[in-house]
Amino acid sequence: MNVLMNVRELIKAHGDIEREVYLDFENSGPVLPEVIEAMLPYLRERGYGNPTITHKPGWEAYEAIMEASEEIAGYIKASSFEELHFTHSDTEANNIALLGGFSANRKLGRRVVISKIEPLSILFPAQMMRKNGVEVVEVPVNNEGFVLENELLKAVDDETVIVSIGLVNHEIGTIQPIKELVEVVKERNPCTLFHTDASDAYGRIPFDVRELGVDMATLCSYKIQGPRDIGALYVREGVKIDRILEGPLGTESLWPGLENVPGIVGFQMASRLAFENLHEKARRLKGFRDMLITEILEKIPETILNGPRGDRRAPDNVNISFLRCEGEALTIELSLRGVYVSSGSACTRRLLQPSHVLLAIGRKYEEAHGSVLMKLSSKHGFEDIQYVLKVLPQAVGRLRSISPF
Ligand SMILES: Cc1ncc(COP(=O)(O)O)c(C=O)c1O
Repeated sequence: MNVLMNVRELIKAHGDIEREVYLDFENSGPVLPEVIEAMLPYLRERGYGNPTITHKPGWEAYEAIMEASEEIAGYIKASSFEELHFTHSDTEANNIALLGGFSANRKLGRRVVISKIEPLSILFPAQMMRKNGVEVVEVPVNNEGFVLENELLKAVDDETVIVSIGLVNHEIGTIQPIKELVEVVKERNPCTLFHTDASDAYGRIPFDVRELGVDMATLCSYKIQGPRDIGALYVREGVKIDRILEGPLGTESLWPGLENVPGIVGFQMASRLAFENLHEKARRLKGFRDMLITEILEKIPETILNGPRGDRRAPDNVNISFLRCEGEALTIELSLRGVYVSSGSACTRRLLQPSHVLLAIGRKYEEAHGSVLMKLSSKHGFEDIQYVLKVLPQAVGRLRSISPF
């Protein structure tokens, strides 16, 4: 109850705010109005049936799922809609890829390889597998978050069942050269499956699962302003994967239970909007991203950019460490000024530990603690960026003025 009272006080403390700029699309965000419009009929008058049952509302639900699978499969250039499986979240998709992929292919060996900067929805199932006797190897990255290819080559052996490396890092925006990494892995062991968590890439940068050569890929809805509680896993035709939950089977073969049809329809609409003029939107986002990075590093002393620059960085990602500031305190200072950021991904925030991603790229504890993550959306305008640049020095200045360091 005390926590709730504190939260209410904090919300009240906001008072009059000149402008509100939401920059936390990493961790959630408002669902786009067009997405809500697309979902509403499926909550009320259409497709409310169970898609496995033979009546009109059931068939409508089935039709909606199939149409969404086809459209989303098309955006990632999958060979067929049958390669796309809806899940209840990205966490679930990552768990199915790792646990289900390993279980179905365990005769191939006993090793799983991931990078040191994977999200917790990969790290935690991998740790669970380690407890159960699977050999889990974490491959290091360089100071921009790129996986060290020679280390990856050393990690993959004849017994490696799965490698999982994210396409875009969720915290520092590093775009991994996945095609090259797949080649390294498959040359060493052609039987090894390659999974990529593409949650932070889907709808932000174009990619083609066949060209990348991946066997599995996780896709996210809420990061492109679709609904939450829905995600998808691409599984290349022919790849064997076990279910990790058992129960009544819906239209999906990978997880049991009733499909979230409104969520699926919303995910489809959010994807359609994200892929419309994708190149133009990415170009615009990069302009805003670079404006923020350049001005913050120039105007605020003792700041460090986390992650790479230019085309090797996701167009929407800004991650900066503010020395002599505590990240969580800075998110509160900024919130009181109407700018909503996070001090890392939802994955790490609640652990109150410095981000494992920032530590892996060589940041010291205090640098990792003072990091702020901003994720832009194509809806942001020049005035939003200018407002952030106006209030950020005020917030940092205030925290530093009371800092004991
Ligand atoms: C890259 C990545 N994958 C997966 C997840 C988990 O997503 P969800 O909350 O939809 O399960 C996150 C969470 O922030 C993430 O950043």
